[in-house]
Amino acid sequence: MKLALGSDHAGFKLKKEIVAYLEENNHECVDYGVFDEKSADYPDLAVPVAKAVSGGGCRFGILICGTGIGMSIAANKYAGIRAALCGETYSSRCAREHNDANILTMGGRVIGAGLAVDIVETFINTSFQGGRHSRRLEKITRAEKER
Ligand code: RB5
Repeated sequence: MKLALGSDHAGFKLKKEIVAYLEENNHECVDYGVFDEKSADYPDLAVPVAKAVSGGGCRFGILICGTGIGMSIAANKYAGIRAALCGETYSSRCAREHNDANILTMGGRVIGAGLAVDIVETFINTSFQGGRHSRRLEKITRAEKER
């Protein structure tokens, strides 16, 4: 699977561990940075990842900042993006089954690498359930167009 990843300085270490894990498991990672712990502004990384996912180049995006909150707010400004902040696997599964989330955000200062890998695995391997959930997503898409 082809995935787009990005982090600010606070998410850099966790992103590095996630990229290593994904590549070991034969996923293709497009890493938009950052590549060190120098202070960075999270919207600068959320934007290219959101574009890679909304444009169809990458199946999913993974964005990590200190809390995951800033990345989620920034990515959700893009039409067609449904970014979900997850700190455990139940939310990660529901983000896919119910919300058809296409970007996962996490907090590098909140969770450890072991849990983060489980959250990622759950997210990328869970399918959208459709049905009543599609109707709800259509309402979000309509709201997006009203802006
Ligand atoms: C950086 O200090 C921090 O504000 C950022 O990583 C993130 O948590 C914002 O939501």
